[in-house]
Amino acid sequence: MILIIDFGSQYNQLIARRVREHQVYCEIEPPTIDLKRVQEMAPEGIILSGGPASIYAEGSPQVDARIFALDIPILGICYGFQYLVHALRGEVAAAYKREYGFAELSIKENSPLFEGVARQTTCWMSHGDEVKKLPPGFRITASTANTEIAAAEDEKRHIYGLQFHPEVVHTPEGKKMIANFLFKICRARPNWTMKIFADRAVEEIRNQVGDGKVILGLSGGVDSSVTAVLIHRAIGERLTCIFVDNGLLRQDEAQTVWNVYRRHFHMNLKLVRAGKTFLSRLKGVEDPEKKRKIIGHTFIEVFEKEAKKINGVKFLGQGTLYPDVIESRSAFGGPSAVIKSHHNVGGLPKKMKLTLVEPLKHLFKDEVRALGLELGIPEEMVWRQPFPGPGLAVRVIGEVTEKRLAILRQADQVFLDEIRAAGLYRELWQSFAVLLPIKSVGIMGDQRTYENIIALRAVKSEDAMTADWARLPHELLARVSNRIINEVRGVNRVVYDISSKPPSTIEWE
Ligand code: XMP
Repeated sequence: MILIIDFGSQYNQLIARRVREHQVYCEIEPPTIDLKRVQEMAPEGIILSGGPASIYAEGSPQVDARIFALDIPILGICYGFQYLVHALRGEVAAAYKREYGFAELSIKENSPLFEGVARQTTCWMSHGDEVKKLPPGFRITASTANTEIAAAEDEKRHIYGLQFHPEVVHTPEGKKMIANFLFKICRARPNWTMKIFADRAVEEIRNQVGDGKVILGLSGGVDSSVTAVLIHRAIGERLTCIFVDNGLLRQDEAQTVWNVYRRHFHMNLKLVRAGKTFLSRLKGVEDPEKKRKIIGHTFIEVFEKEAKKINGVKFLGQGTLYPDVIESRSAFGGPSAVIKSHHNVGGLPKKMKLTLVEPLKHLFKDEVRALGLELGIPEEMVWRQPFPGPGLAVRVIGEVTEKRLAILRQADQVFLDEIRAAGLYRELWQSFAVLLPIKSVGIMGDQRTYENIIALRAVKSEDAMTADWARLPHELLARVSNRIINEVRGVNRVVYDISSKPPSTIEWE
């Protein structure tokens, strides 16, 4: 495995993904990790990530410098490079000119890091400080017009530094450089596959749970589904999945989940039909935050009541992913403002005193999908777009009623059908319909109508932090609009949302 020390760069998860793309396992740890833990992990290599700090600033993140004496190959990237230079008694100072963006890289010396890499290539720079003087034993291996020491190394001690970012796509040869570090320098083997992961995870779940029982809130989304299938593989009937139909689901949702996980996987699945409870509590409520809170509380209540019916449960399965783990302990990110209160099952274990079973907590989303396929989950389930916990309640703007939900469901179904038929479903992060709380005048036949408006939302995104509205073909939009107005009773106008995030959000509420 490779250990990545997180100095707070916005790209550090990308480093991890690049390493894993080469089928080498890696973990990200904060710089406060102690030396003993590093030794226990016995990594084949260490990557020091970039970061926003200046090495001379007070409180700048530093890792125990004794890692340099462990005889483990080290690659420092950007701040990580400056840190290692500083720690090994070289010099770093503010660059004459802050460098941000593309730069032409000239490779000056042969280096195992640059084997098979073009001598002249593009790289991506993003730094305010730069290395002025190398520590003893180091030599320059590459430069750009503005940065003489763009890459350097001490080959004897297996320590390498890059001022630019090899992990981003803007450094086209970066992938090759990372592969060289992994395979030529660290001598790692590409043996991290989802098949091996699944076997190991099953083993670990069995060890953790013993002969105990686990419950899990199945939402039908990728993360909870893959978690469920994995735990089910490990302990079979001792896993109980609870699927709460809150009445705010899309067309045929509950039935699909039932068919896949009960009929196909033979899981111990409880389908709780609680739509009436949720809807009665949402009656008259228009405020989005209030809706979210009510749904969150009601979910926990319904889930707990169901869970109590199962005797002797000590564990709660949860589909936590690696980015959540990294972000929640990041020393640099800090708490961000609450824009929307997210309703997740996170509040459950504290109240119910359950121990978490989180078999996906070291995986990225793309790995979870690959694992899902490996475990035999149908492709349509594995490639589902995200769906918010509060469901259609945040897409029926204003009061949520049975009638308005029915209108939205039909319109949403038409939109999704057409998106799938056009082969666009997978490349969109999300595509859905929203029912607006206003009516507009229209004309149908010779009659004046005064009916609802449906807004269509389709976005492209990598991680939901930012999103761009999708440039859907006009013909597709025309077909969807036509079909919705003709097929969905109560709608006489369809509009398309052309706002990006930020400043808008993906969901309307
Ligand atoms: P926004 O609307 O904040 O949404 O841009 C970002 C992503 O999060 C999803 N979302 C939720 N997911 N519980 C969830 O599990 C929630 O309460 C929730 N609210 C929004 C949203 O669909 C988008 O993918």
